[in-house]
Amino acid sequence: MAGTGLFAEILDGEHVYKYYADGEWKKSTSGKSVAIINPTTRKTQYKVQACSQQEVNKVMDLAKTAQKLWAKTPLWKRAELLHKAAAILKEHKAPIAECLVKEIAKPAKDSVTEVVRSGDLVSYTAEEGVRILGEGKFLVSDSFPGNERTKYCLTSKIPLGVVLAIPPFNYPVNLAVSKIAPALIAGNSIVLKPPTQGAVSALHMVHCFHLAGFPKGLINCVTGKGSEIGDFLTMHPGVNCISFTGGDTGIAISKKAGMIPLQMELGGKDACIVLEDADLDLVAANIIKGGFSYSGQRCTAVKVVLVMESVADSLVKKVKAKVAKLTVGPPEDDCDITPVVSESSANYIEGLVKDAKEKGATFCQEYKREGNLIWPLLLDNVRPDMRIAWEEPFGPVLPVLRINSVEEGIHHCNASNFGLQGCVFTKDINKAMLISDAMETGTVQINSAPARGPDHFPFQGIKDSGIGSQGITNSINMMTKVKTTVINLPTPSYTMG
Ligand code: G3P
Repeated sequence: MAGTGLFAEILDGEHVYKYYADGEWKKSTSGKSVAIINPTTRKTQYKVQACSQQEVNKVMDLAKTAQKLWAKTPLWKRAELLHKAAAILKEHKAPIAECLVKEIAKPAKDSVTEVVRSGDLVSYTAEEGVRILGEGKFLVSDSFPGNERTKYCLTSKIPLGVVLAIPPFNYPVNLAVSKIAPALIAGNSIVLKPPTQGAVSALHMVHCFHLAGFPKGLINCVTGKGSEIGDFLTMHPGVNCISFTGGDTGIAISKKAGMIPLQMELGGKDACIVLEDADLDLVAANIIKGGFSYSGQRCTAVKVVLVMESVADSLVKKVKAKVAKLTVGPPEDDCDITPVVSESSANYIEGLVKDAKEKGATFCQEYKREGNLIWPLLLDNVRPDMRIAWEEPFGPVLPVLRINSVEEGIHHCNASNFGLQGCVFTKDINKAMLISDAMETGTVQINSAPARGPDHFPFQGIKDSGIGSQGITNSINMMTKVKTTVINLPTPSYTMG
């Protein structure tokens, strides 16, 4: 159970979880806490420490000192510790998954999957890290005009320093380790600021790293109010890199952060373009999986269907039939559709639904909401003047726009301020390739719904969807800088063979 057994030391008394710094679980001197509301019961489930700015300063100092020693730790040893943490994480998947269910209403099975996927991600990162960080480049000067072979250039990848990791509520464990593991294998230290909803899951995950035996101060996790420590963290002079996943707060962070590398993933309005020759059963299954899994609260969810008019009736009928089969209820019962993360999120979704109603969208189901629980809703005949055609509901509401040409679909996709992923369904691979090239998104899936994984695939958004590329290899590279050493010879030297 969460907060018991091995995890008892992360809890202060009965209710408030501690924060993690200097290899120890601590109570904040602020004496204050932040409540985490269970999206299903809408009552306080857990509390976490409201860390102060002074505590953030202390953590930054610790992380800086610990990083210097960690950078001198052999690569194989860093990998060994990561493998150990991955094993502990997977072994304790049950209590961590329990927190995910209570804090973010993720269905029970998906919660377990998130933890197991996270363990696999950490192990893969350890393996990939020893390979890609174990090699550098060797250049000779005489390949550039006018030079003799008098200079040998050795390049290697070195750590950046302190990485600030800010994951979102929808994957507080997986999108935390996708930042932590690459940072650590590359020789960086970590300051983690988990989302408030999801903080307790993240603290349990951090304890698995603690149990693995990483050096003191290398991994730190501060919790608290964004208004108190959010900007303070992102603008802190001790931070050498920020890896952020979330909403448009990321745009504000990128404007305020100093001259440091940024990795950002800020959401999407992923379009699903359906051509006349598509396998409509395959499309319908992918729309359900892509649009409604975790109640649509995924950056990579299908967020708008752009279907050719000639097959639209048939597709909508198939999707409607599948929507009717989705189970709706609490995450503990492993329902397909569970409460969205907060009341404000539910209110926002409702605003989009009302706007679509007023402007004449066809409701394939009746709109129904109880508390934060919103029943799955397919909106047909959505037009570009409706907000839902452009905005991310981050909930189980999916708009269908009927199009008369492929160009119209591509135009709608590209007119969005987002550019994360998109998908196209057709049996004609040549057409699919042309459409993929024309879509201004970081990834295009052909004949499948958008998705980030497998976690070693590159993952990136363009426009307001983000900066840089993620995926295990890209994240390791992003969290390093190139260092070169040039050996200058007094006379040209050539290998003679
Ligand atoms: O930030 C990415 C996340 O929201 C979606 O990840 O694995 O569900 O495609 P995934």
